[in-house]
Amino acid sequence: MQAKDQDLSASTKTHFACVFGNPIEQSKSPIIHNLFAKQFNISLNYEKKLADADAFSKAADQFFSSPCTIGANVTMPFKHDALAWVNELSLQAKRAGAVNTIIRTETGFRGDNTDGIGLVNDLQNHDIKLPGTRLLLIGAGGAAKGALPALIEAGVEDIILYNRDKAKAEQLIKSTELYAPGVVQAYEKKHGDFDLIINATSLSLNDGLPDLPDTIFETGPAIYDMVYKSQPTVFMKHAKKQGCSKILDGLGMLVEQAAHSFYLWFGVKPNTQTVFENLRDVLNNNK
Ligand code: ATR
Repeated sequence: MQAKDQDLSASTKTHFACVFGNPIEQSKSPIIHNLFAKQFNISLNYEKKLADADAFSKAADQFFSSPCTIGANVTMPFKHDALAWVNELSLQAKRAGAVNTIIRTETGFRGDNTDGIGLVNDLQNHDIKLPGTRLLLIGAGGAAKGALPALIEAGVEDIILYNRDKAKAEQLIKSTELYAPGVVQAYEKKHGDFDLIINATSLSLNDGLPDLPDTIFETGPAIYDMVYKSQPTVFMKHAKKQGCSKILDGLGMLVEQAAHSFYLWFGVKPNTQTVFENLRDVLNNNK
């Protein structure tokens, strides 16, 4: 792990990192990583990189041609391209089938996926217990794929998966059977008694709700919507109306996934709470 054993505050070297995406203007990653770097007096130049949709590999080759580049984050639509670009993969990245963090190593580039661990850390920060929890996970796209392996590794052993496209849900369940047989099953109307519901769909971005009965809220589960906005999402508001009290959005996950990327690059764990509060203010002031 680069720089792990060095006195980072004593180093005058500037490290370069970036986030690749398309679009990328909306990304909060530079704000987050620059705040993390300040905590350790690390000189970090972290930029947003807009890559052409069909040219991730060229953009990554170009960026990493400089030896001062320590790593990169990767967001939509390049998480699969990044998986193909690196020459080594972490177990999380393999299981998620996507790379959101690239780390320069002595011999090349390792791809990791910190989305799932970011979610798990944020849930734990909010005292949401994972072992023994009965979870309803909604969605089977990239966000759900990234979350599932980490949730399983954190000890969730009873997961019900719902997705509008049932075949996609079945495919995702099948992928977990390889390392966690029997843990994830497809949603049926008879299912209930949830302790935790995670919305991993993009529905809240367009103020949509999943097509599920209100009985899923009957036991007052904790609610997590991976989307974040300046106001509570429509899913969060709906869960509140149904009597749920512990309701969170995905801003904490964003900060925690970044913190784990930062750890993979620099070997130090930033304080996430202050950065989270700072970011919430930024978000509220941009409404
Ligand atoms: P991402 O990689 O960001 O998760 P994605 O792969 O397009 O994006 O997945 C988006 C998720 O939101 C999927 O679970 C998708 O359901 P489908 O697989 O059935 O498409 C879900 N989603 C998006 N729009 C939806 C809608 N209008 N109704 C129900 N589910 C929706």
